[in-house]
Formats: sequence, C-alpha cells, structure tokens
Amino acid sequence: MNENASGQLVVVTGSSTGIGLATASRLAAAGFHVLAGVRRQADAERVSGPRIEPVILDVTDEQHLARLRERVENDPSGRPLRAVVNNAGIAINAPVEALSLADWRRQFEVTVFGQVAVIQALLPSLLSSRGRVVNIGSVGSRVAMPSFGAYSGAKYAMDAVSDALRREVASLGVKVVIVTPGAVKTSLTERGLEEADRVAATMTEQQRSRYGPLMRAYRETVQGWARDGAEPAAVAAVVETAITAGRPRTRYTVGRDAGFMVPVSRLVPDRVLDQMVLGQMKLPRR
Ligand SMILES: NC(=O)c1ccc[n+]([C@@H]2O[C@H](COP(=O)([O-])OP(=O)(O)OC[C@H]3O[C@@H](n4cnc5c(N)ncnc54)[C@H](OP(=O)(O)O)[C@@H]3O)[C@@H](O)[C@H]2O)c1
Repeated sequence: MNENASGQLVVVTGSSTGIGLATASRLAAAGFHVLAGVRRQADAERVSGPRIEPVILDVTDEQHLARLRERVENDPSGRPLRAVVNNAGIAINAPVEALSLADWRRQFEVTVFGQVAVIQALLPSLLSSRGRVVNIGSVGSRVAMPSFGAYSGAKYAMDAVSDALRREVASLGVKVVIVTPGAVKTSLTERGLEEADRVAATMTEQQRSRYGPLMRAYRETVQGWARDGAEPAAVAAVVETAITAGRPRTRYTVGRDAGFMVPVSRLVPDRVLDQMVLGQMKLPRR
C-alpha cells in the first residue's frame, strides 16, 4: 500500500472489464479511493469492493458527467482528485469506404469527445489538486493498420489532444501522460469482431469482393493479438507508475509490440512502414 495514495481519489472510466477493471483493482490495492466508471448497475455491483466505488458513467452522457463532477468536487471526506484515467473505449474496424458515417461518429463520440468531456468535467478539480490526466492511447495512435481507420483516427486525435493539453496545463501543475499499449488480452477483440461482422453485413457486393481478403486478415490478426497480447494487469502497473512517479514520462508504451513499433514508426519512411504493416497482416505487398 502506497502511503501517499490513501486519502486521494482516482477516477477510472470504462472499469467494467479489461484494462479499466485491472487498473481500478490495482489502484485500489495501492490505497487510492477509486471512482470506477461503469455503464450498468449489474457491473456496478460486480466491481464494487474495498476502496472501489462504482459510478454510473457513460462518457457520452452529459448528466452522468455532471454527476461525476459533483461527486468529485463534493467528496464527503474532502479527498483531492489525484488522477483521471481516461480508459473507456470501443473499436469499430472496417475499411474507410465501407464504414458508415454513423459508425465513424460513434467511434469518435466515445473515444475522442467522451474523453475530452471527462477531462473538461474534472480539470477544475485536477487544477486545484495539481493532479494528473492519464489517457489510454494505443499503438494504433502511431501506426494505422488497414481497417483501423476509425479506431486509429480517434486514437491519433486523442494523442494530439493529450499533447496540446500537456502543454496548456504543465505550468498550472497538472501532468498529462499517455499510456500506449500494444495488443492486450481483453474483450475489445471480441467486441471489435462483432462490430466488424455487423459492418461487413452492410457492405455492397463490390465492397465485399474488394475488402473480403482484408477483413479476413483483420480477423486473423486481432485473434492473434488476443492470444499473444499482454495481460491487462501489465497496463494497470504502468498506469500506477504514471500516477505515482515523481516525474512521470509524457508517454509510456506497454508490451514488446508497442515498444518496437512506436519508435520504429518515427524512424522509417511511410512506404517502408506500409510494407511492414501489410506483412504483419499477411496481406499482399506492392
Ligand atoms: N485491448 C487492446 O488490445 C488495447 C490496446 C491498446 C489500447 N487499448 C485501449 O484500452 C482501453 C480499454 O479497452 P480494453 O482493451 O480494456 O477493452 P474492453 O475490455 O472492451 O473495455 C472497454 C471499456 O470501455 C467501456 N465503454 C465503452 N463505451 C463506453 C462509453 N460510451 N462510456 C463509458 N464506458 C464505455 C466498456 O464498458 P461496457 O462494458 O459498459 O461496454 C468497458 O468498460 C480502450 O481505450 C482501448 O482503445 C486496448
């Protein structure tokens, strides 16, 4: 148990499963009082535990956000907000051409505007506590694989938002950290595959023949990630470091894949990266 943690609040969005659940558990074990965002009452009952207080939070719901702000600003024990972990996310994967604008908007609504809304709701508290924003990014925010246009687009956007925010609030005492995992074994894979099947069912015949091989490659690639990916606990450990380190890095990667791809993406020319990405998905290279 971390002496400094007790008596401080942390908000973790998307705590029902995966990285969010592992993070909420780890931070509670470290002694923080965790306000764990979940969308359903059944999940609230399941995640509730010592120092884990569930809060109903859909990051696209203004009333939920207002209630969260109120809860944090009027903590019954007067505890300061140490950090918000912006983790909630969805993955809607399909070729740029075949994804409806409604799906593009939904991806950005949750993964960009939802995260920005959480930051806006909690920044006043973080400014007064000199707390931290920890945004869960993705290696997809540095390398956009085919069929990941919407997901990566949203993650790239949040990377830029995080950079801008870090430069806005550093002198005001708030630190902003991006945690960039590679593949992690969570339900995001299964949920992403369901979304991809739903979108595939709406494709025209021509789109199906154009993108059939890509969609099969996508499926095999993410199934491989689900088998070989890091455990959610590995991300949670890095989040704890991001929150507790005296001078946290601006960015952390998690997993060997992210540790390799993120720096490589900065060094190699686009066309070389194209070949690497297509090779990784076992798609024809040009
Ligand atoms: N898994 C990976 O390989 C991987 C890699 C890099 C980055 N990430 C990122 O890690 C984060 C967590 O994902 P995960 O892998 O742990 O997946 P996950 O197990 O599917 O968890 C996603 C979480 O987000 C919540 N969520 C979805 N829409 C929401 C909304 N509108 N409002 C509030 N919460 C919402 C889900 O809640 P419900 O249960 O209510 O739907 C769930 O708690 C995401 O930002 C993801 O992009 C994941």
